[in-house]
Amino acid sequence: MLIKRRRGWEIPDREATPEALVLRRRDAMAGAVAVSVAMPTIIAPAAARADSAPVPRNPKYTVDRALTAEKNATTYNNYYEFSDDKDLWQDAQALHQRPWSIELAGMLPKPRTIGLDDLLKQFQLEERVYRHRCVEAWAMTVPWTGFPLSQLVKLAEPLGSAKYVVFQTIQDKTMPGLSAPYYPFPYTEGVTMDEANNDLAFMVTGLYGKPVPPQNGGPIRLALPWKYGFKSAKAIIKITFTDQRPHTFWEAIQPSEYGFWANVNPEVSHPRWSQASERLLGSNERVPTRLYNGYAEFVGGLYQNLNGEKLFM
Ligand code: MTE
Repeated sequence: MLIKRRRGWEIPDREATPEALVLRRRDAMAGAVAVSVAMPTIIAPAAARADSAPVPRNPKYTVDRALTAEKNATTYNNYYEFSDDKDLWQDAQALHQRPWSIELAGMLPKPRTIGLDDLLKQFQLEERVYRHRCVEAWAMTVPWTGFPLSQLVKLAEPLGSAKYVVFQTIQDKTMPGLSAPYYPFPYTEGVTMDEANNDLAFMVTGLYGKPVPPQNGGPIRLALPWKYGFKSAKAIIKITFTDQRPHTFWEAIQPSEYGFWANVNPEVSHPRWSQASERLLGSNERVPTRLYNGYAEFVGGLYQNLNGEKLFM
């Protein structure tokens, strides 16, 4: 994005992604220790984790274009805590995915911290195929596993006066990009309470039927498919309910280019490039971009009384 020396799509895709096993090497090691001698059957190392069990696909959320190849979706990433290059996936393997907990904070009767696996036990996970549209004009179509953000809101029971939900990403010693002086880490994103309660807003714990790998935001990230990808924060450790609109990461860097709303609209150009079309990851094919990234029927109603807001940047 942004103040980069070169555009994302000018960086060649790296050859690579070997195996999911490599992507989750640390979990595999931990799981291997846990396999008891009393259990002769070989158990997939991560099987005890709720985010690695197979889940049904929700037919309501399918799209009319082919899935992006897993290799492309998992080796071409934006994750500024690691790097502002796209080929950070190997470095991201260093980020431990367990133990992991999420702090629920702000305007709640009971602020608390919950272990991720305990949290996941409270929800029925499902798979959804979503479009994902980066503000840089590349796109992918992937099967995410997770649960609706609205269910987490319900669990948190925010006060009626809370208006926004703010997501904060981990800052970890394994992340070399954190030392860059010009980025206002921690990565923070936010949505309105109405957006959070829209059924499309999805907390992601899996990708292609496996735990979502670190480079794609494991162990838990957001997917807001009608918004530019930067709204979908990765590796979430804190969720705050507040009545103040947050100053989010990209908005703090360049408010004239990356606003709070960031809804996809092909007719509203980025100040430095058109948003009319998008390149599908893994190919040079460009396809037309759609209003709200094709999800207008689900979310158009959210924005009807917001005159004066810059909804599409
Ligand atoms: N979350 C964090 N913590 N750090 C980031 O740099 N990049 C965002 C978003 N979430 C980012 C982030 C951007 S710009 C995009 S397009 C998507 O993650 C990319 O998700 P992907 O790498 O899984 O395709």
